[in-house]
This record gives sequence, C-alpha cells and structure tokens, in this order.
Amino acid sequence: MSKLVIANWKSHKTLEFAQTWCADFSKEVSALTLTTVPVAVAAALPFVASLRSALPSQVTLAVQDVSPFPPGKYTGAVAAAQLAGLEVKYAIVGHSERRQYFGETNTDVANKVAQCLEHGITPVVCVDDEYVANQAAALEDGHAAKCVVAYEALSAIGTGKNMDAQHVAEITELIKQSFGQVPVLYGGSVTAANVAEYKDISDGWLVGSASLEVEDFVALVNTVAQF
Ligand code: PGA
Repeated sequence: MSKLVIANWKSHKTLEFAQTWCADFSKEVSALTLTTVPVAVAAALPFVASLRSALPSQVTLAVQDVSPFPPGKYTGAVAAAQLAGLEVKYAIVGHSERRQYFGETNTDVANKVAQCLEHGITPVVCVDDEYVANQAAALEDGHAAKCVVAYEALSAIGTGKNMDAQHVAEITELIKQSFGQVPVLYGGSVTAANVAEYKDISDGWLVGSASLEVEDFVALVNTVAQF
C-alpha cells in the first residue's frame, strides 16, 4: 500500500512564501516520486485555492480545519460544502492544537467528520493515546471506517523528539480496533532521518515542522519513495 504524506503548515507562511514553496517543490521533486508517494499539502485556508495551480498536479489539497456546521449563518466558519468546489481532498480535524487552543471536543470533531463525508472530503481525524476510543465512539454510525486517522503523539508534536516506534505500533493497533481497518498515519516530529522507523507500522505521516522547508520535505518524500 502506498504511504500518504500530508504537509501541515499550520499558521506558518505568508502567501508569498507559500507560492515560493510550491514553485521550489515542483522543481525539486520528481514526477516519478509523486506517482509512488501520494502527497497532500494543508496550507492556510485563504491560500488553498491559489496553490492548486502552483503545485504539481499529483499533489492533492488539504485543509487544517473545517466547520462543524453546514453552510449558513456561522460567521467566520468555512463549510465542507464550500471546500468541495476547491478540489480539497482531505480535511485535518481535531488536531491537538485545535483541541487545546480552540476548545474543540470529540463531538465537534464528529460533526466535522459528518460534514466532510457528506461533501466528499476525507477527514483526517487526529487522536492522542487518551481519547482514541472516545473519539471513535463519538462519531456517527458508519463514519469511523471512512476516515483516515492520524496518531498525533502529544509529547512528540513540534518537539523534535519523535515517538518510540513500538509505542506508535501499539496505538496504531488500538486505532484500528476502534475505527476499523482505516489508514493510520503517525504525526510528531517526523523527518527524513526518522521516518524509516515507522515504515512497517504507519500508513503515512502527518508532517509539521519538516514540511516548512522544501529541502526537508523533499528529502522526506524521497525517503518514503524508497520504502
Ligand atoms: P511536527 O507537527 O511534525 O512539527 O511535530 C506534526 C503535527 O502537528 O501535525
């Protein structure tokens, strides 16, 4: 099975930097690599549409969040229905930073998943060890098996200290028991230098820090292409 790599830029990068990244990435990554490794880029929401033409056509678009509501009177929210027209393939939902800084709950995440699935966007549900089972249980019937799940180890996110592979294997198994046989990504200080530790464990990776510089990200994608 091919391994999915999602770049999560978080609130980094101006439009100008984002466009330069896309131009440089297009030059430095080979088309062959992109046929082997599915890559998605989750840029800041206002940039998503304009990056479509700046990225190689094999690269898919992702967003970092989505509204838990349908289109309507929800100022500031962007509905899944509005993203579908932008060729957005994946929506990261329930990232630990959303849970920590924006008070997002398992129920909010379940509503976001429902909106995504209704509009043909694959939700990438982020979970930490503590709430794998509760998050799966909060989803509407039949939704869990349609998600991609990312095990985002809290202690490893943005710290430069990636999680022990054995522990990732255990939680990946727990996720598959709770959600079904879904693709399970790992996220938390993944780099080109450590991604091989998870090659027989994870179905892909959610990459924050190591996606910000083209050089680091291309090195990572090239490493994954060798698996
Ligand atoms: P990191 O971020 O790679 O910088 O640890 C991962 C994430 O939060 O998705």
